[in-house]
Amino acid sequence: MKKASKSISGFSKLSKMGKLKWIVENFFKDPELVMQELKSYWLKDPDQQRILDQFSENTISNFHLPYGVAPNFILNGTTYCVPMVIEESSVVAAASYAAKFWSTRGGFRAEVLSTRKVGQVYFSWTGSADLLTHTLEDLKKALLKDAKDLLRNMDARGGGVRSIEIRPIEGGDHTLYCLYVKFDTKDSMGANFINSVLECFASTLQHYANQRWAEDGQLEVIMAILSNYTPECLVRAWVSCQVRDLGAVLDMSADEFARRFKIAIDIARLDPHRAATHNKGIFNGIDALVIATGNDFRAVEANGHAYAARNGRYAGLSHCQVQDGNFEFSVELPIALGTVGGLTSLHPMAKRSLELLGNPDAEQLMMLTAAMGLAQNFAAVRSLVTTGIQHGHMRMHLVNILSQLEANDDEAQEISRHFEGKVVSYSAVRDFLVGIRSPKGSCVENSLLKSS
Ligand code: MEV
Repeated sequence: MKKASKSISGFSKLSKMGKLKWIVENFFKDPELVMQELKSYWLKDPDQQRILDQFSENTISNFHLPYGVAPNFILNGTTYCVPMVIEESSVVAAASYAAKFWSTRGGFRAEVLSTRKVGQVYFSWTGSADLLTHTLEDLKKALLKDAKDLLRNMDARGGGVRSIEIRPIEGGDHTLYCLYVKFDTKDSMGANFINSVLECFASTLQHYANQRWAEDGQLEVIMAILSNYTPECLVRAWVSCQVRDLGAVLDMSADEFARRFKIAIDIARLDPHRAATHNKGIFNGIDALVIATGNDFRAVEANGHAYAARNGRYAGLSHCQVQDGNFEFSVELPIALGTVGGLTSLHPMAKRSLELLGNPDAEQLMMLTAAMGLAQNFAAVRSLVTTGIQHGHMRMHLVNILSQLEANDDEAQEISRHFEGKVVSYSAVRDFLVGIRSPKGSCVENSLLKSS
């Protein structure tokens, strides 16, 4: 590959073809081939492609990820077929396994505990904190009056601003505060709405302080932005059954499984190293559904991880109780999602995902998403405390290696038989394939070795 040392000014102003041409000519050995390849990932329908192109800047092609489904997912008595976009092998299989397992044990249950979103206007203030507190009611009236036009539609949908407080920001060198604003954005994620309202509040606050508090101190607005930490947009999902109804898990008795499972969940609550991996497993399920429905998985991740550290120490997000012969496994976390607006109504596949789910409202999607996280966590920890995680991963790992080595169907079958129950590594599979394909020293062997 050529060294990517070239820079360009005005790249964003080039046409899509112009951008593509510049990229392939400057960064690839075979521009024609790469041009064809990148174009082959464009959607056939130019109108659909234009929709994708407009989501982001400098778009030259599409990056595909697998779109799978986990069927038989029972939540609060309704059966769903849950769409999942994820590149990691075993995640969809794990979700499907957990869905089936719990479908005969009452299914998943979930409830939304609260739906408040948060935004802040940060400012420094040299005057007394008391003045801020005493004038807050009057300030609020000014803030809401100036934002009236922005709030009108959301108010009509039953959402809007729910409270405005002034909170000090402790610990820095400056005397900092924020307007801490809680919102209800109904079925939309509401990021644009919240940020627009906050920017309006910021300008009103600055103006208000300049007009009314000039003699008492200096106020400087620093920034206005929503918070991706929404501890009051909270959802809980759980499964429960009698321990004996867990049945024998692989060759482990139900009691033994429940005991070891609970210890594993407790370890994640005690040890941040384990907690990060444990929560990553939860987000394997959550992100896959969040992406499939056109929601912002970075926001959802940030929210969940901040919540996991809310007590000053990062911990696992799930809980397990084994008491009086009963097994209960639950997760509680904040998830801010939308089912209207944004990508949810623009991305053709996000629209289909929502349709597949029966067009849920935001609260239903929150519950499904939390349940999906719990399902992943159940399947991962079940493997960890029984066979170990590699057992299940090996089959998918082998499929990926076979595809990298371009094994044909007969070779794939023979290799799968050979590696049944064995540890799979790229080199072991490659060596075995070399053995099948040719006697030692032939061209086939050499070309395989070179490509590894
Ligand atoms: C792998 O993507 C996720 C797991 O590591 C989660 C866990 O360890 O709980 C299997």
